Amino acid sequence: MAKYKIAWLPGDGIGIEVAEAARIILDRVGLDADYIHGDIGWEFWRTEGDPLPQRTLDVMAKTDCAFFGAITSKGKDVADKELIPELQGKGYVYRSPIVRLRQLLDLYICLRPCKAYPGNPLNYKEGIDLVVFRENTEGMYIGVEYAQVPEAFYQVPGMEKIPRDAAVSFRAITPGSSERIVRAAFEYARQHGRKGVTAVHKANVLRQTDGVFMEAARKVAADYPEIEFGNANIDAMGMWLLKNPLNYDVIVTTNLFGDIISDLCAQMVGGLGFGCSGNIGTDYAVFEPTHGSAPKYEGQYKVNPIATILAAKMMLDWLAEGDKAAQVEGAVAEVIAEGKVRTYDMGGTSGTLDVARAIADKL
Ligand code: IPM
Ligand code: MG
Repeated sequence: MAKYKIAWLPGDGIGIEVAEAARIILDRVGLDADYIHGDIGWEFWRTEGDPLPQRTLDVMAKTDCAFFGAITSKGKDVADKELIPELQGKGYVYRSPIVRLRQLLDLYICLRPCKAYPGNPLNYKEGIDLVVFRENTEGMYIGVEYAQVPEAFYQVPGMEKIPRDAAVSFRAITPGSSERIVRAAFEYARQHGRKGVTAVHKANVLRQTDGVFMEAARKVAADYPEIEFGNANIDAMGMWLLKNPLNYDVIVTTNLFGDIISDLCAQMVGGLGFGCSGNIGTDYAVFEPTHGSAPKYEGQYKVNPIATILAAKMMLDWLAEGDKAAQVEGAVAEVIAEGKVRTYDMGGTSGTLDVARAIADKL
């Protein structure tokens, strides 16, 4: 029996291609694992009304962690029209499978390292080495939204200010979830010798919810006196990050701000082809490239697999296979520095699997 069981969820679009690339690396580095396929993606929405079927959750329940490629999602109107005729008009509602997984499995940390590997022509500045900790279960992602404000709301004092034709979305921030994400960021900083943690918020306007977040952040920060603690408003942070990216180290924030800031950070180190994520809970985790399924490139094997290979590296770290993780990262760094095998985004003409094989050859 293999040492690990890994749920393998390539999804659709280019998810399938980049997952294939990651497997080349995991096999070459000799990870002793069984990979168990799980159905996830647009096809299962269309034919079953659920892009994340229960049988996939059952597979995941028997594994140590999961590896996810990417999936296509489309707007509400298109989603409804693409359902097979038998399922149309039956009230099926599309919800992002990855968001559901994060919430269902309580994967409260979204860890997104963004490092400028030397020699990457897409680096915004050399030396950038940021790590984003995004709260992954609550905030604007709780999925409580109304196309029309329910009448009962207008009975609550203050609510009469909401225009009658408004759609509303709720943002929920709890002290407990705030504390655990901030603590995760500080623990990471301590373990990895990082010098500072910056909490990002909009507490001057979102006084209640970001008030809760910042109070939790300050409380946790007091337990880590050796680590510098700073904070910034989300808007200002967008400017400061572009101006002085080397001034930042570990960033911790709520769900939606983390979504936004992590794309900004990824772009500074090469863009979609370099953004990797670990969705991490107390005893389970799902690793994925941050990018989507890029339907227009589907089947062409041309997109950059490095984000996905770096997600595999994160999985190795999480499985306490630190040596293997370091080998993979070293091989990625070498291929980037050599600059011979590059996908189109980096100015090259190599394909997805060429890059994977070049990295594998360094292992
Ligand atoms: C991400 C993505 C997702 C998110 C989408 C696909 C729902 O943008 O992982 O950052 O918003 O969290
Ligand atoms: Mg995002």
